[in-house]
Amino acid sequence: MERTFIAIKPDGVQRRLVGEVISRFEEKGFTLVGLKLMSVSRELAESHYEVHKGKPFFDGLMKFITSGPVVAMVWEGDGVVAAARKMIGATNPLTAEPGTIRGDYAVSVGRNLIHGSDAIETANREISLWFKEEDLIAWEPSIMSWLVE
Ligand code: GTP
Ligand code: MG
Repeated sequence: MERTFIAIKPDGVQRRLVGEVISRFEEKGFTLVGLKLMSVSRELAESHYEVHKGKPFFDGLMKFITSGPVVAMVWEGDGVVAAARKMIGATNPLTAEPGTIRGDYAVSVGRNLIHGSDAIETANREISLWFKEEDLIAWEPSIMSWLVE
């Protein structure tokens, strides 16, 4: 089953939006298979965002991501990678559609609340970067027959 890596960034935790974000994914019908509150090391932050190394915002991004606790999660479901990106909204919260998480709760690209993997391959890389395999729980929600035909 498809999985994606989602992280509530330090601004989301500070702003008490952890429950709101988790609710949106639960209510949509995706399945939580991994969850932890953690401090992010500079090493992990650099590895996670390695494609952005050298860009003008990189140092600010590193400072921000390591500035406070992050909620790291893995969510499962058919099409979850692309669907989560839609639920999260555009990178710049000012252009993110209302109804998306960034569109509803944020105003600045450097404080955009949440990360979601941008492709299935990226998701696999990020999940193994942030989680040990044994910390991911494969389970069959009992409501599955009410979610999927
Ligand atoms: P993530 O889910 O965090 O990866 O965001 P994204 O996939 O929507 O955007 P992208 O991967 O291109 O950028 C990663 C993060 O870097 C963004 O979420 C922003 O926090 C930050 N970022 C990207 N572009 C800019 C920018 O032009 N200025 C600033 N200040 N930050 C940026
Ligand atoms: Mg990205």
